[in-house]
Amino acid sequence: MKVIATYNIKGGVGKTATAVNLAWLAAREGAPTLVWDLDPQGAASYYYRIKPKIKGGGKRLVQGKRDLDDFIRGTDYALLDLLPADFSYRNMDLFLDQTKNPLRQIHKLLKPFRKEYYYVFLDCPPSISLVSENIFEAASAVLVPTIPTTLSLRTHEQIGKFFRQQGLDITRVLPFFSMADRRKKLHRSIMDAPPAQMENLLRTAIPYDSNVERMGIQRTPLAEFAPKSRSARCYEALWEDVKQQLSRLE
Ligand SMILES: Nc1ncnc2c1ncn2[C@@H]1O[C@H](COP(=O)(O)OP(=O)(O)OP(=O)(O)O)[C@@H](O)[C@H]1O
Ligand SMILES: [Mg+2]
Repeated sequence: MKVIATYNIKGGVGKTATAVNLAWLAAREGAPTLVWDLDPQGAASYYYRIKPKIKGGGKRLVQGKRDLDDFIRGTDYALLDLLPADFSYRNMDLFLDQTKNPLRQIHKLLKPFRKEYYYVFLDCPPSISLVSENIFEAASAVLVPTIPTTLSLRTHEQIGKFFRQQGLDITRVLPFFSMADRRKKLHRSIMDAPPAQMENLLRTAIPYDSNVERMGIQRTPLAEFAPKSRSARCYEALWEDVKQQLSRLE
């Protein structure tokens, strides 16, 4: 089982779009795949047309007092399952903090799925918190969508610093350019000469494309309604990059 997190401290950078599209590609290849929507906003659940609700609330689930299995839902796509979000996840830090090993609770919860799923995608809320620390502990790879702007690069630096401070393996952090617009001079100059601190920058950039926005109207992964679009092809290439990195990280 490979755990892949889509993470950034910053909001609105393409984390959910990445998780939803890459998980779809993984399942299409025949790999049983689970997406855990960890964001109380429930966007990944929305894209897969599943109500973002955990009956009875998320607390007992996160604390391991209820069987995760009971809440996993099949999506409209073969081999692709979803563990929906719940609005109570806004308090997930608190829930985690009350467990025996607060940093490794998500890792522990996922362990029983080792044989069931080949890939688990964690769609994370934008923050740096106990939830994110759990994700860093649990993930084989942390994908960081990065808009090619100066501020985003600073954010990336902060993530790197945090990893080093916590003694985490920085080579598992895989940034890639997201919502890239080559008509913009700043985007072009950053992409043509990425800063050295962006170690393990993935080759593929996801372009800015209104088709990605349309996912919200269609409520399906991109490849279902615009398989030939440039962004759909880029997600395919990005998925190849990710798989290559995962084999390196084994
Ligand atoms: N490549 C892209 N081109 C155009 N629009 C995009 C692209 N990627 C994402 N978007 C749009 O930008 C918005 C934010 O994307 P998304 O929800 O994937 O980001 P996020 O990082 O998960 O946000 P949040 O921090 O709120 O969870 C959405 O409306 C989405 O449709
Ligand atoms: Mg999101």
